[in-house]
Amino acid sequence: MTRPETIAAKALHAIDPATGAIVPPIHLATTYARDAEYQLIDDRDYARDKNPTPVVAERVLAALEGGAAALVFASGMAAATAVFRTLCQPGDHIVAPAVGYYALRGWLARFAAKWGLAVDFVHTPTLDAVRAALRPTTRLVWVETPANPTWDVTDIAAVAELAYAAGARLAVDSTCATPVHTRPLALGADLVMHSATKYLGGHSDVLAGALVTRAEDDAWAELARTRHDEGAVIGPVEAYLLLRGMRTLFARVERQSRTALALASRLAALAGVDVSYPGLASHPHHAVAARQMERGFGGMLSIRVREPLAVVRKLGVWVPATSLGGVESLIEHRHSVEGPASPTPPDLLRLSVGLEHEDDLFDDLAQALHRVP
Ligand SMILES: Cc1ncc(COP(=O)(O)O)c(C=O)c1O
Repeated sequence: MTRPETIAAKALHAIDPATGAIVPPIHLATTYARDAEYQLIDDRDYARDKNPTPVVAERVLAALEGGAAALVFASGMAAATAVFRTLCQPGDHIVAPAVGYYALRGWLARFAAKWGLAVDFVHTPTLDAVRAALRPTTRLVWVETPANPTWDVTDIAAVAELAYAAGARLAVDSTCATPVHTRPLALGADLVMHSATKYLGGHSDVLAGALVTRAEDDAWAELARTRHDEGAVIGPVEAYLLLRGMRTLFARVERQSRTALALASRLAALAGVDVSYPGLASHPHHAVAARQMERGFGGMLSIRVREPLAVVRKLGVWVPATSLGGVESLIEHRHSVEGPASPTPPDLLRLSVGLEHEDDLFDDLAQALHRVP
């Protein structure tokens, strides 16, 4: 079972050995009995990090990313912050993306100030900028690709080489690429992070995060320890929803990416609409995206228009809401959400393409753009 579609669809052939059930059961128990010799059964003592339902989700995700192991967390933020808090000590230096998920950038700036870390927020698609930022004390390079909300694409293999030469680890937030389009570990990254709330869950009904590692090394053992100690785990029902979502990952994401590419091309042909999508030749990082991303360019795009909030008010199919990666298409004015200090241009609308018909999505946007003078 080597092809990722098969791994996902069968959840790694997760047939319950006790009953033959072809859907992994939701295990609600928080604790596990010992056997007659007072030994643990299957090394399982307590549900904080040994509940079998999340463990199945971790195995599936590790296989999809081609990693040695995975850990699921209570949210994407819990997964991401665990990396910085566990692997960086006061005095260390971090290279982080200037363009990327706004809340993580804000948290990292505050955490670094308190914890005595040096951080450079650099434009990671520009390799010279990454090279110039690296220092002997750099412990971690963090990359998000494609990156919110301009969908900047960073060359993972090239940054991995730079990080490796500098003695730093590379972690990649691959939330928007998903394992369908990019496998960062095969390109040289040490860790992959996902907000599993997005495409992995895929139905806007579960909050979860994940880390996947290339090697079960000391750093990974420390990360597992952090999660064990701090307890930012998901419950069995959330794990079940995540597993269920991952079974259709390829069908959903490939379709979302096809629709996103079609919409990006059609919207770019409209007067007064500036489209940012890595699948378009006009995107500044299209060449890297075409080399690095397989099977498409993702379901996220942004448009810049006059009067963006007036456009949103005239939409009927697109739902004005935050988040991304679900089956329903969402549109968001990031500048309003991020506040006055936001680096996101005020005329930008972020689009998360769902599974609706392409024509319904396009017609809705076209009529709204037409009705806003
Ligand atoms: C790219 C990216 N990374 C991380 C996160 C944080 O994930 P969560 O909301 O699951 O904590 C998000 C959430 O929007 C995201 O879009």
